[in-house]
Amino acid sequence: MSQDQWSFVDRYISDRLVGPDAALDAALRANAAAGLPAIDVSPPQGKFLHVLARSIGARKILEVGTLGGYSTIWLARALPADGRLVTLEAEPAYAKVAAQNIARAGLSHLVDLRVGPALKTLPELQREGAGPFDLAFIDADKPNNANYFALALKLSRPGGLIVVDNVVRDGAVVDPASPDPTAQGARALFEAFEAEPRVAATALQTVGAKGWDGFALAIVNSV
Ligand code: SAH
Ligand code: DHB
Ligand code: MG
Repeated sequence: MSQDQWSFVDRYISDRLVGPDAALDAALRANAAAGLPAIDVSPPQGKFLHVLARSIGARKILEVGTLGGYSTIWLARALPADGRLVTLEAEPAYAKVAAQNIARAGLSHLVDLRVGPALKTLPELQREGAGPFDLAFIDADKPNNANYFALALKLSRPGGLIVVDNVVRDGAVVDPASPDPTAQGARALFEAFEAEPRVAATALQTVGAKGWDGFALAIVNSV
């Protein structure tokens, strides 16, 4: 099996089930024009996040790692009219592009975009009493995955869902000696799940336009 085949199948899924989408397509064009790395979730993955959020009736969503707001748009579209999505981004230049993309999608009234390192903004959210969140999507700097999970757990409601992107990294997650810091971040996350009785967690490997990777999903038993 090859990357080309995975990409063709992703294209098939997107053509059938996602289709052209003015706001999402414009966001990816704006990201490319501004030189943002093309590390957004793929279209089928974005729609997967949207379906997940709707399936739990999410009214409050937390996102760690906005980039240009591609996943933000998918998630915010799952919210009811009085819903709220807080998204955290460390890089001001990326946040500026994201704010424009979110505005073009007509979602600014639902989205609270905060600029700064998430290890700082997450505790701020906690102090503000911004939670509890129904869904958290963690997709930022992977070495901090276990830290973000611990903070997201504090901000979650019982029954809430915590989703983490990029937990397989071309299979490098199984290598204890992997020099890839993102794989080490995924390993630390799995160890945190293993040691945490307050969640029931699993992970699914994915292949597609973005290569071989995976999502972890944890449902919060109690907080
Ligand atoms: N969720 C986005 C992709 C995010 S890429 C999508 O699918 O469309 C990862 C993002 O995390 C990058 O924009 C990067 O700047 C951001 N990031 C890296 N370190 C961070 C930190 N310490 N705090 C918050 N965001 C961070
Ligand atoms: C990479 C991919 C991602 O989805 C992400 O959030 C960060 C980095 C990458 O492949 O480098
Ligand atoms: Mg990602």
